[in-house]
Amino acid sequence: MKNIIITGGAGFIGSHVVRLFVNKYPDYHIINVDKLTYAGNLANLKDIEDKPNYTFVKADICDFETIMGIFKKYNVDGVIHLAAESHVDRSIKDPFTFAQTNVMGTLSMLQAAKLTWEQLPEKWEGKRFYHISTDEVYGALELTNPEGIEPPFTTKASSGKHHLAYGSKFFTEDLKYMPHSPYSASKASSDHFVRAFHDTYGMPTIVTNCSNNYGPYQFPEKLIPLFINNIRHRKPLPVYGKGENVRDWLYVEDHARAIDLIFHKGKVAETYNIGGFNEWKNIDIIKVVINTVDRLLGRKEGEDMDLITFVTDRAGHDMRYAIDSSKLQRELGWEPSLQFEEGIEKTVKWYLENQAWMDNITSGEYEKYYESMYANR
Ligand code: NAD
Ligand code: TYD
Repeated sequence: MKNIIITGGAGFIGSHVVRLFVNKYPDYHIINVDKLTYAGNLANLKDIEDKPNYTFVKADICDFETIMGIFKKYNVDGVIHLAAESHVDRSIKDPFTFAQTNVMGTLSMLQAAKLTWEQLPEKWEGKRFYHISTDEVYGALELTNPEGIEPPFTTKASSGKHHLAYGSKFFTEDLKYMPHSPYSASKASSDHFVRAFHDTYGMPTIVTNCSNNYGPYQFPEKLIPLFINNIRHRKPLPVYGKGENVRDWLYVEDHARAIDLIFHKGKVAETYNIGGFNEWKNIDIIKVVINTVDRLLGRKEGEDMDLITFVTDRAGHDMRYAIDSSKLQRELGWEPSLQFEEGIEKTVKWYLENQAWMDNITSGEYEKYYESMYANR
C-alpha cells in the first residue's frame, strides 16, 4: 500500500484530487492534511469520508513538528501539495499570510519529506514530491493580434492543434517567471524551493502550473461561483475594470485527471503546464454564466444582464493568461475531456442544485460545525 499525503484536500481542487485518488486507488492510503482555513470545507468530501483508505488530519503545513510527525506516523511515500492561500484579492490585502502559507508552508513540507526520506535505506527510491502551482507565476500576456483581425483569432499551438486566442504568445514551460501579485509571487517562490530541493538534495520533485479552474466546490469568492450565487439572489455582479481581461479556463476534474497522470507517469524534475486552450474575456464568460443561470432557473435568458456592475479594477490586474499545454499532451497524452459549454452547464447546475452547500459557506456556519466534529480525531 502506498501512503500519500494530499495537502489542501478540503479545498476546491484538492477535494477533487482526494476523491479521484480514494476511489480509483483502493490500495493507496490517502492522508488529507488540511488546516481548514476559511477555504477548507469537509463537506466537499462527504461522499468519501468513510472510505477505509482515507484519513483526514487537521494540521497547518507551517507547523513543521506536526508535519514531521505525520510523515513518521504514516510512512509516507508521496506528497501532492495543494495547500495554499489561493485568492489574488486577499493577497493584495494581506501578503504576509501568503508568504507564510505558500512559501514557509511549502518549505516545511519539503524539509519534512527530505529529513524522513533521506534516512531510509532506499532513500528517494519510489518517492515523489509533486507541487501544484499556477500559470500566474509567468506574469501577464498582452492582448495582441499580429494579423490585425479582431480577437479571438485562430492560432496554432506547438502541438499543431488549432484553437482560439486573444494574443500570439502563450505560457510555455521555459518562460521566465514574472509574477505580479503577492499571490503569484508567493507561488513562484514556492516553485523555486521545490526545484531547489531537487537540484540540491536529489529529491524526486515535479511541478505543474495550471490555468484557472472552474467547477463544483469552488469557494464563492472566485469569479464563477460568486457570480452564479449573486445572479441567483439578484445581487450586483462586480466586474473589475472593463471586463476585458482574459483567463484560460479548465474544468477542475480535468485538472485532477492531469494530476493523477503526472503523479504516476511524469518525469522527475520536469515542469508541465496544464490548460485546455480555452481563453475567455471576463465579460463574455459573465454573459454565458448569466444566460445559463437564467435559463436553468426558468427566467428569461439574459434578463439579469443589468446586474453587471463595472467597479474599480484590481490593483496590478494581469491582462491575459494563456497556457500552452502541448508538452503534457505530447509526452503524456493528456487531453481535456470537456468542452467549455458542457463544463459551464454542469457547473451552474451543480451550484443551483447544491444551494445548501453555498448557504453554509456564505453564512459562515460550516466552519464551526466541522471544527467541532473533527476536533478530537
Ligand atoms: P482553495 O483556496 O480552494 O483551497 C486551499 C486549501 O488549502 C483549503 O482547504 C485550506 O484549508 C488549505 N490550507 C490553506 N492554508 C493551509 C495551511 N497553512 N495548512 C494546511 N492547509 C491549508 O485553493 P484551490 O483553488 O483548490 O487551489 C489549490 C492549489 O492549486 C493551490 O496551491 C493553488 O495555488 C493551485 N492552483 C489553483 C488554481 C485555481 O484556479 N483555483 C489554478 C492553478 C493552480
Ligand atoms: P478569480 O476567479 O479571482 O481568479 P484569478 O484572479 O486567479 O484569475 O478572477 C478571475 C477573473 O475575474 C480575474 O480577471 C478577475 C475577475 N473578477 C472580477 O471581474 N470580479 C470579481 O468579483 C472577481 C472575484 C474576479
